[in-house]
Amino acid sequence: MAIPKLFEPLTIRGVTMKNRVCVAPMHQYASDHGFATDWHLMNVGRFAAGGAGLTFVESTKCDRRGCGTVGDLALWDDKFIPGVKKLADFIKSHDSVAAIQIGHSGRKAKRFRPWEGGAPLTENPGVDQAYWDSWELVAPSAEPASPTDPTPRALTNQEVKDLVEMWGQSARRANECGFDVFEIHGAHGYMIHQFLSPMANLRNDEYGGSEENRMRFCSEIVESVRAHWPDDKPLFLRLSCEDRAGWDLDASVRLSKQVKALGVDVIDCSGGGMQGSPTEFAPSYGYQVPYSDKIRREADIMTMAVGLIVHAEQAEEILQKGQADIIALAREILYNPNWPMDAARKLGFEGHLETVPSQQAYWLGRRDATATEVVPSTYGRG
Ligand SMILES: Cc1cc2nc3c(=O)[nH]c(=O)nc-3n(C[C@H](O)[C@H](O)[C@H](O)COP(=O)(O)O)c2cc1C
Repeated sequence: MAIPKLFEPLTIRGVTMKNRVCVAPMHQYASDHGFATDWHLMNVGRFAAGGAGLTFVESTKCDRRGCGTVGDLALWDDKFIPGVKKLADFIKSHDSVAAIQIGHSGRKAKRFRPWEGGAPLTENPGVDQAYWDSWELVAPSAEPASPTDPTPRALTNQEVKDLVEMWGQSARRANECGFDVFEIHGAHGYMIHQFLSPMANLRNDEYGGSEENRMRFCSEIVESVRAHWPDDKPLFLRLSCEDRAGWDLDASVRLSKQVKALGVDVIDCSGGGMQGSPTEFAPSYGYQVPYSDKIRREADIMTMAVGLIVHAEQAEEILQKGQADIIALAREILYNPNWPMDAARKLGFEGHLETVPSQQAYWLGRRDATATEVVPSTYGRG
């Protein structure tokens, strides 16, 4: 039988993914003053060992001020490199490509964790006072994320340029950590998206006003990252391709064309976040796949589809139809970290046991050989 498209390798620049399954970036809110903890290692470890071709480390911050919560992971200083490098090393030791997303929350920074309610933090929740004091809410403009949120301070023109360089420095550090894919987080109502949005960006310098000006911050970050990120390593950009708040899919196509020329290889097609949560507005299967489809065709760039991609056949169909090049999973791979093995088996790919380490593959192979009436729990009882 032909190899399912989901399990065909994919080479971008000098990096080859063994399959098209990606573990999407997922905040853990589990750092200690920005430093990676055992939780991070366990978390990326279970996904990399679960067989994904590409495993992302969560949105890691390029600036202290950009932390969404007290537990955000940091790469704004060289002192964070050893802890984050351990994550890349472990992912790679399981034959998964190690990827990191770098972000900045802008006006959505400084909040309680989602399961603590997500409201703005007004008092030090117990970190070092200096760490707390360095956490200033900044944004393109002095516009709060919602009428009940605190008002950020508008960045000066020089501070915007400094931030562009901070992104570049985080790319240098990510390379020193050993990551092979770097993603710029331009989505979900965070800093880059705030610059893109006519609702959040009311600046009157070269970073605000016209669409061209609002795209400038993002494009300069791409250039800065490319200056510090090796030519043979892929660069991804995550966009909220449609935010229902003034930024739409056609603008995303125009931006995709622009950044492609500057060295972005893949657009990671997400949505929302300018008003409310990005994951709660569209509860149907593959709700963001149309974004990926259009950007791939019209901007002639590789894309990653994400958002309620749950089943193996669903993922395979998206690839077969040419709607995306990579399939990213977040909540479903939380449910089943061995999703790649499960999907391979369901798609009839004989190499399904090769997706997991020998410590597991051996015993699962023995079970298949000896208990031939038995099917895995994800099939329902045979
Ligand atoms: C626990 C959790 C943490 C997340 N953290 C991030 C993040 O760090 N960066 C990001 O761009 N998206 C983040 N997301 C969004 C996911 O990457 C993904 O786009 C979204 O959950 C939709 O995919 P799904 O339906 O497969 O969950 C997070 C989602 C979850 C569930």
